[in-house]
Amino acid sequence: MNIVDKISVMEKGYIDIEIDSSIDVIEEINRLRKKKNAVILSHYYQSGEIQDIADFVGDSLGLSQQAAKTSADIIVFAGVHFMAETAKILSPNKKVLIPDLNAGCSLADSCPAEKFAAFKEQYPGHTVISYINTTAEIKALTDIVCTSSNALQIVQSLPQDEKIIFAPDRNLGNYIRSKTGKEMVIWDGACHVHEEFSLERIIELKKEHPEAKIIAHPECEKHILIVADYIGSTTSLLNYIMKDAGNKYIVATESGILHQMRKERPEKQFIPAPPKDSTCGCSDCMYMKMITLKKIYNTMKYELPEISMNKELMKKAEVPIRRMLKISEELGL
Ligand code: 13P
Ligand code: SF4
Repeated sequence: MNIVDKISVMEKGYIDIEIDSSIDVIEEINRLRKKKNAVILSHYYQSGEIQDIADFVGDSLGLSQQAAKTSADIIVFAGVHFMAETAKILSPNKKVLIPDLNAGCSLADSCPAEKFAAFKEQYPGHTVISYINTTAEIKALTDIVCTSSNALQIVQSLPQDEKIIFAPDRNLGNYIRSKTGKEMVIWDGACHVHEEFSLERIIELKKEHPEAKIIAHPECEKHILIVADYIGSTTSLLNYIMKDAGNKYIVATESGILHQMRKERPEKQFIPAPPKDSTCGCSDCMYMKMITLKKIYNTMKYELPEISMNKELMKKAEVPIRRMLKISEELGL
């Protein structure tokens, strides 16, 4: 494909080329994966059909660990932009592809770099801990990156009197501050999916299913976390339902994780926690769901869109991500 063709098919942020209806998309993805030595990494919030064809399915921490150690030549990232960017930072010599450049993140968007730099200036002597759901520019302003799987342990690993700036998720930040009693200044950002759960509708569900346990992601608002029987990252919620003796769960996080829960424990019942402003019973991240099997196929075929980043920025952003990976390894996470 020449440069003019590339620009025209990429106008929408993804390859806009119709796929011949006679093509078996999954078979073709498998053929291309082998031929090009590509690996498909999928977040738990992707659709079930994407999770099923991925080489690795995981949460933000697991995906960054995989991206750092893969021997593939091409990483196809079935997730959102900051995740693919993190993969590129950790594997700068590999080709990192994201099937749709529009797959952003409302939480990352809630923390623009210029405003955050000014905020940081107000708190000299503070250690900056940023959630992985941020742009590379924010990571470059950060001391240690964290994910929901290791945020609590990373904050706990710092001396008790260390002053901390935590960004960008206010709910995760408040949850960690309440657990650790640390002095933390928290950026006022949030994820639109995790802030959408309706306490009233969850309570109604609980009345209908009194035996169900409420399990929630720490990006949810405080009033949801208060009624939760268990709070944890996506992987932690999955591990919980595998070991727990209960049989029914109301799950307050993005609905994609229910696919793995049902696969792991088909005998149990999983009910998605309902959002406030919708007649629909579950909560989907519109950015995560922008990735489709057809877009993955086109991406693998044309090797576009590719993540490309400024080298200096990559180097700066790599330091706090590597610190997170090292601490996580030491803690056995
Ligand atoms: P984890 O992958 O750390 O569970 O975070 C959830 C999330 O919102 C990812 O975008
Ligand atoms: Fe971002 Fe929330 Fe979507 Fe995760 S679920 S990608 S935090 S908008």
